[in-house]
Amino acid sequence: MPPRAGYSLPREFYTDPAIFEQDMERMLLRHWFCAGHVSSLPNAGDFFLVELGVESVIVCRAADGAVHALLNVCRHRGSRVCVTRSGTAQGGGFTCPYHAWSYGLDGRLRAAREMPASFRREEAGLKPLQLRVLEGLIFISFAATPPALDDAARALANAAGTHGWANARVAHQARFEIHANWKLALENYMECYHCQPAHPEFARRHANARPWTQAAELERSAHERSSALGIRIDNVDHYALKARVGQESVSVLRSALLPGHLTGSPDGQQVAPLMGAFPQHDGNSTYFDIGPVSDFLAYADHGVIYRFIPRAVDRTEMEVIWLVHADAVAGRDYDPARLTWLWQVTSVEDKLIIERNQEGVNSRYYEPGPYSLQEDYTSRFVAWYLAELGPTSPAQRAAAAAR
Ligand code: FES
Ligand SMILES: [Fe+2]
Repeated sequence: MPPRAGYSLPREFYTDPAIFEQDMERMLLRHWFCAGHVSSLPNAGDFFLVELGVESVIVCRAADGAVHALLNVCRHRGSRVCVTRSGTAQGGGFTCPYHAWSYGLDGRLRAAREMPASFRREEAGLKPLQLRVLEGLIFISFAATPPALDDAARALANAAGTHGWANARVAHQARFEIHANWKLALENYMECYHCQPAHPEFARRHANARPWTQAAELERSAHERSSALGIRIDNVDHYALKARVGQESVSVLRSALLPGHLTGSPDGQQVAPLMGAFPQHDGNSTYFDIGPVSDFLAYADHGVIYRFIPRAVDRTEMEVIWLVHADAVAGRDYDPARLTWLWQVTSVEDKLIIERNQEGVNSRYYEPGPYSLQEDYTSRFVAWYLAELGPTSPAQRAAAAAR
């Protein structure tokens, strides 16, 4: 059954391993995705691993301060080189646990025992990936020529820049293993039609859980408050444009908090020191997305990075990273439990509803259903995905090739 515009996808898009492979090749490996925040790598030698599908990448800081992304595949016989999720590299590099080839923090091969005279060490370094740091966020891409980041950099300078994310640090991170296809996780993230029934905590705080007409009224007064404080963050909607202009996708959406709420905290009151350009709370929040699987939410006093990590056709990891001002100290300036409460409970709820969605979609009786007005972003995300994927069946591919 072919996909239908304005409807959820046919079952095989959420269940077929061959389509998952196409997702990886045609979409996920071609785009940029957020690996984390530079504050996780304060010193030379610090590293963490990033995974996507079966791929593993070492993100590390070298002695000269540069951040590198290196494929975690040994150039000898292919073993994983680094098997620790994060830490500080001993001896200024990584040594493969199999036959002890040793690599520097920039990926160069430093030592390999008993190799023939013809062996060229300079050609056997760990393969580097494209990497850019924007407003403290590390983005990597597997593509040799990934989409351009000019539009994304501009939008990030405005959104993450105004929120002070270049001068932030990671306060906490949590990982949720979701037994579902990555597109069900993203479709869920992109809409708030489910917020009233599924997220009572979130729906009491955020206007986008309300029907559009009510939300629009709340947005107007929140924007006036922002302007009065000199805060200007422009909405950006690139979903319709990005494939055409060769730019990485970017969207920015300012969204109001409900009256009486300054931020996403248990009592609606400030939860950490103000960040960036905010002289006080403006009663707004800023959602922004870069590429297909990296999503962000900024309040005036903290931020949240949402990394969706497709691992297999039916398995997605969701990593949530909380940011605070670089100088904020736990216990003195913020209570970690209050800081993380809203997105911890919301993520646990999301895991459950996404997994139930997958269970229903697995049924032979599932058929694609129509998106509501409140699922506009989801509908456009799916349209973008289909455009990126191109023809999926051999017959469709043949027809496209003949055109
Ligand atoms: S596979 Fe890494 S040293 Fe042999
Ligand atoms: Fe949700």
